Amino acid sequence: MKIIAISGSSREGNTDAILKRILDGARENGASIELVRLRERNIELCDGCSSCEKTHHCHLLDEMQSVYKKVFDADVVVLGSPNYFNNVSALMKNFMDRFNPYWEDARLKNKKAVAVCVGGQSYDSIKYCEQAIEQFLKICSMNLIEKIWVTADRPMEAKENEELMQKCFELGKKLAEK
Ligand SMILES: Cc1cc2nc3c(=O)[nH]c(=O)nc-3n(C[C@H](O)[C@H](O)[C@H](O)COP(=O)(O)O)c2cc1C
Repeated sequence: MKIIAISGSSREGNTDAILKRILDGARENGASIELVRLRERNIELCDGCSSCEKTHHCHLLDEMQSVYKKVFDADVVVLGSPNYFNNVSALMKNFMDRFNPYWEDARLKNKKAVAVCVGGQSYDSIKYCEQAIEQFLKICSMNLIEKIWVTADRPMEAKENEELMQKCFELGKKLAEK
């Protein structure tokens, strides 16, 4: 069982803490895990060339190529994003845009996915971030099996919330059993 988590945060903060804890739980139950921090990768912006509509691959031969492989190989993909202006972060949005070659690809069809959204405000604001991830998964025919949203603003706020960290750990354990 391979579980990959993709962090769309620009900092070592709440999204990373939540994803790490989910992965800790998954590892506890025997899964092989990996956290991809998009900010650490050399991933260019989708340039909108649309050549991928014919070729079904991306001509930008950057580190996104290895991220594609990790996503295709994973049994479960956890997508985590901070809420930025009632949407996903630019890092996460570009990750989504770079999937334009593959949104119809059989390797994504029914792949299990989890959505994680963190914002400083209430669900009234965070829900749009959640919806953006849900729409991406729907377009890619992926199977959203769990979603969590969290209100946290200071970078260490989620990590200091023991109840939340336990919930994430249990979620990870459950994902590894599916
Ligand atoms: C550019 C920017 C825009 C933001 N917009 C919102 C917003 O619209 N709604 C919200 O709930 N939080 C918003 N926030 C707060 C972040 O979502 C919050 O600090 C979150 O904890 C960041 O997650 P991270 O620690 O994983 O980066 C914004 C933060 C930044 C930097």
